[in-house]
Amino acid sequence: YFAKIMTVPELRHLRRKALLARKSVGFVPTMGALHQGHLALIRQAAKENDQVYVSIYVNPTQFGVNEDLSSYPRTWPEDRVKLQALTAEFSTNNQLGQIAAVFMPSTKEMYPSAPPTSEIDGQGSFVTITPLSARLEGASRPVFFRGVATVCMKLLNIVQPERVYFGQKDIQQTFVVKRMVKDFHLDTEVRVGSTVREADGLAMSSRNVYLGERRRAVALVLLNSFKEVQQVFARGARKRRYLYNAAMDKLLLVQKQQEALPKGKRALFEVDYISIADPDTLDELEEVTAERGAILSGAIKM
Ligand code: PAJ
Repeated sequence: YFAKIMTVPELRHLRRKALLARKSVGFVPTMGALHQGHLALIRQAAKENDQVYVSIYVNPTQFGVNEDLSSYPRTWPEDRVKLQALTAEFSTNNQLGQIAAVFMPSTKEMYPSAPPTSEIDGQGSFVTITPLSARLEGASRPVFFRGVATVCMKLLNIVQPERVYFGQKDIQQTFVVKRMVKDFHLDTEVRVGSTVREADGLAMSSRNVYLGERRRAVALVLLNSFKEVQQVFARGARKRRYLYNAAMDKLLLVQKQQEALPKGKRALFEVDYISIADPDTLDELEEVTAERGAILSGAIKM
């Protein structure tokens, strides 16, 4: 089975052996609490590489002070069972690579100069990708992408994979990482896997466990608001205003409905952002064309 590795030197040792044996390495960075979205990325990595390295590390610097660093789900016993099941699945097909390493570093290992807890103001070494990191998700989470870019830089320097895998669910993260890889000349190919969803369409996320039953049901309004945009687009709307309003009208309607319900029956939420952006740059678009399309993304806070 796979090696569970806690330190950088041990990981480097294994990586060097793979290099000498001419085994390609695909890398899937995660924060654990693994679900089918993570597992799909690991399957894709096993299709495209001889060896798969998975990291499980809850990275403090990408959490804001009022965010969920201390409560983020940590479920290693369950994660291990899932990874072992994948190992068994892969070994029945010799076309597939195998999980070679699961990297679970401590924060002291990842931040050797000064172990941070969360949101630290400029102390230490950071990677900043601007202005991309300040927009969309970054507008209300100012340190998030700095933390993501910094930990991905560290992880990529440690693992040096041929390919690294990210999920489309976190589309802006894939843009930040791609830009970092390009601008810092990192020698790795960024691969993006499609979003894995629950049966009703909600994107899988380690954080979905925070939603109670009521909020879980209402959370689907975000996806439904996107479907409204698709519909007005199909009917010929191309201007930002019409597309944006299609999403916003749906969100505000359901928001009002929820607010009218009595306390114990409602699930309140606020719209964080809705973005209709260029598929290459993630710059906001004033007009969408059918040829180029657009990336529609957004967030609500419940
Ligand atoms: P985490 O949220 O654990 O996600 C790890 C990877 O799985 C990310 O690339 C994410 O986009 C992908 N993923 C999550 N849910 C998915 C879904 N429903 N379908 C497809 N892919 C999905 O993202 C992070 O961790 C961190 O920011 C990290 C990159 C590990 C840096 O700390």
